Amino acid sequence: MSAASMTARDAVGAAVDALAAAGCDTPRLDAEVLIADALEVDRGALIADPGLPVPPGAARTIGERIRRRVAREPVAYVLGRRGFRRIELAVDRRVLIPRPETELLVEVALELPRGASVHEVGTGSGAVALALLDERPDLRVTASDLSPDAVAVARVNAVRLGLPLEPSVADGLASGEYDLVVANLPYVRDDEWPGLAPEIRRYEPREALTSGPDGLDAIRALVGRARRGSRLALEHAPAQAAAVRELLAGGETRRDLAGRERVTVGVVA
Ligand SMILES: C[S@@+](CC[C@H](N)C(=O)[O-])C[C@H]1O[C@@H](n2cnc3c(N)ncnc32)[C@H](O)[C@@H]1O
Repeated sequence: MSAASMTARDAVGAAVDALAAAGCDTPRLDAEVLIADALEVDRGALIADPGLPVPPGAARTIGERIRRRVAREPVAYVLGRRGFRRIELAVDRRVLIPRPETELLVEVALELPRGASVHEVGTGSGAVALALLDERPDLRVTASDLSPDAVAVARVNAVRLGLPLEPSVADGLASGEYDLVVANLPYVRDDEWPGLAPEIRRYEPREALTSGPDGLDAIRALVGRARRGSRLALEHAPAQAAAVRELLAGGETRRDLAGRERVTVGVVA
């Protein structure tokens, strides 16, 4: 088939075969998302009109994208962006791709009264802090991360979104007084790393994910160094919920959309 006569159906069919052979979990979804974006249509339009012609320039873009996805690079890095609540964030290999379960941290902070102050530790792409500013411009939101690379990405996202966040580089809690501190710090156990999907192991920054033998090193350090009386909302793995409750006074755990214990809120004793 000449490139000139290629249709979306041809491109999707070939991509699904290649992605399935490479072991991707959702080959059709990934192929459609990557190809629709290259053709500058939404996924619904691609599905509705499979006879859409694929111009040669788009065919080259699709080939390159599918090659990256076959190497198990996450779709979000291939596209360079990821949606989170109402905003879209630029993401690349310097930052963790924001996960849907982390939206729970935003929901906890949305319960704060008007004008309250909230600080996000380990902001990565800026997802939580920026989503909060987008949805609650009355809140005073600040953010920090240990990684200067992550802070650079969060700054770019703040500027792109026109939101007033000036993230800083800090290990643990940046100095200041806050009504609430939110954090999705690394919480994967060191021994879990080899068993994680290639998308994670090969592409996402390990220092954003793993945290010691029980996965709680970063959380323990944050709690240990926070001022007495500080209110924290901490994301963790479901199996860590009881241990995180033990670290905080009055710790209460919220469940994510899948019903798993995901965020514990409590006070530093
Ligand atoms: C799991 S990622 C979360 C990123 C972002 N909050 C999100 O949910 O998409 C953890 C982030 O915490 C940062 N981090 C790790 N240890 C830290 C520490 N001691 N102090 C501040 N940030 C830390 C990492 O650089 C990384 O950006």
